[in-house]
Amino acid sequence: MQLLDGKLLSANIKAELAAEVEQMQRSGERPPHLVAVLVGENPASQVYVASKIRSCAEVGFKSTLIQRDANLSEAELLEIVAQLNDDPEVDGILVQLPLPKHIREENITLAIDHRKDVDGFHPVNIGRMTQGLAAYLPATPYGIMEMLRRYNVETAGKHCVVVGRSNIVGTPMSILLSRKGYPGDCTVTLTHSRTQNLAEEVRRADIIVAAIGIPEFVKGDWVKPGAVVIDVGINRIEDATRKSGQRLVGDVEFEGASKNCSYITPVPGGVGLMTVTALLMNTLKARKGEVY
Ligand code: GUN
Repeated sequence: MQLLDGKLLSANIKAELAAEVEQMQRSGERPPHLVAVLVGENPASQVYVASKIRSCAEVGFKSTLIQRDANLSEAELLEIVAQLNDDPEVDGILVQLPLPKHIREENITLAIDHRKDVDGFHPVNIGRMTQGLAAYLPATPYGIMEMLRRYNVETAGKHCVVVGRSNIVGTPMSILLSRKGYPGDCTVTLTHSRTQNLAEEVRRADIIVAAIGIPEFVKGDWVKPGAVVIDVGINRIEDATRKSGQRLVGDVEFEGASKNCSYITPVPGGVGLMTVTALLMNTLKARKGEVY
């Protein structure tokens, strides 16, 4: 069993990004600029956005954080987005989700210029991704694809079972892995809460992508010998043996799965770190005008 080490990979990728930014600045060009918009006081969102801003600094990107109270109106948020769309010195725009209930998220997603949509949530980017055209890929799937590529994990002809059909992980993963090329050319089964005999589906998988948001949902004995396990879950569970009284686990029972699999992503230190790194990769693409 080999770990797919998100910490190592994200450090390598960040070093590559930093080198490219340095080169840009030496040639007199401005660095990539990401603007994050955070509305309200959701504690998890505050942690995620802080991590995105910190990561920008690590690679020499400019970043701006726009913070507003939860009572910001939808019209006011649309006005902020419109200004960022028009600003030639803003390359990437990210509006952190979830938004307060009175704001319709789909209106905001649609309002962001798809050429600056570094989250890859705009229907234009999702459509372009589906057709294999240049697109911003959503950060977690992009990070996973990069992990598979950099560890040379074989994917052609493999049976991949994705557990969870969210718009930002499960559904795009199923599309990306079934596309032509590498990593891809998989035969994909997309499973979810209504799937019958889910354990039997997972037992057939050469590659498992677990993104259901339930701690240790995929059991060790569902993992076929030699399978590749990509664990997207980040769940906090109680653990009286820890000083903090809790610990992080994924959507896969790590102990059992690691006895059977060929590769596995740890939690923490796996997919999570790749997600922020993928956002940085998208922001550099935005600066270079590679997605239009
Ligand atoms: N909320 C949870 N994940 C994400 C993400 O990738 N982007 C944004 N904007 N909000 C999120």
